[in-house]
Amino acid sequence: MKGVIVLALKEMVKEKFGKDKWESTLKNAGFEEEPMILPISNVDDQTVLKVIDSLCKVVNISITQAGDAFGDYWINVYAQEIYQVYFTGAKTAKDFLLKMDLVHIAMTKRIPDAHPPRFEYDWKDEKTMIMKYKSQRGLIDIMVGLIKGVGKFYKENLKVTKLGDDKVEIVFP
Ligand code: HEM
Repeated sequence: MKGVIVLALKEMVKEKFGKDKWESTLKNAGFEEEPMILPISNVDDQTVLKVIDSLCKVVNISITQAGDAFGDYWINVYAQEIYQVYFTGAKTAKDFLLKMDLVHIAMTKRIPDAHPPRFEYDWKDEKTMIMKYKSQRGLIDIMVGLIKGVGKFYKENLKVTKLGDDKVEIVFP
């Protein structure tokens, strides 16, 4: 996975939980010292999963809470600084989410062996969208948190429900 995700996670943990918690998270995940990571680095998926798991233990939160904290931070803080163009190009949460499949392909296009998450969209009724998550990484809880973060950004009261490991239901207002 792209290093930018780990760097955002690190910032989020330092800001929301404190620098010492980030250090403990790395230590508990088996790192003696912090590896050097650039936004464009490729960090192997198992390492990222191990760090997320370690964070949950160190600060005693569930994966759902970790997903919500990361999702809010990524959308409302981190991405605002570096990916603002994607937000100005979409007027509503729905428009933004519908672009996410193409955005993830575009973001990882130049990276050899990249495996961006892919999304498929189905409509249950005119307000209810099912967003299907296609990835080997099993990070559906992170996806749910990100979608909630998008609702917050657009000030829309979205109802976001995880349906198993590969689908999220979103009810738009
Ligand atoms: C400006 C907005 C966004 C940008 C620029 C962005 C970009 C990225 C990038 C670069 C990665 C790493 C991909 C890789 O290394 O293969 C990633 C991962 C991920 N993104 Fe986004 N993302 C955005 C918003 C979202 C939203 C709104 C969702 C949820 C619908 C989402 C879901 C995910 C998930 C679940 C992953 C983890 C990788 C996986 O599960 O396979 N992202 N994103």
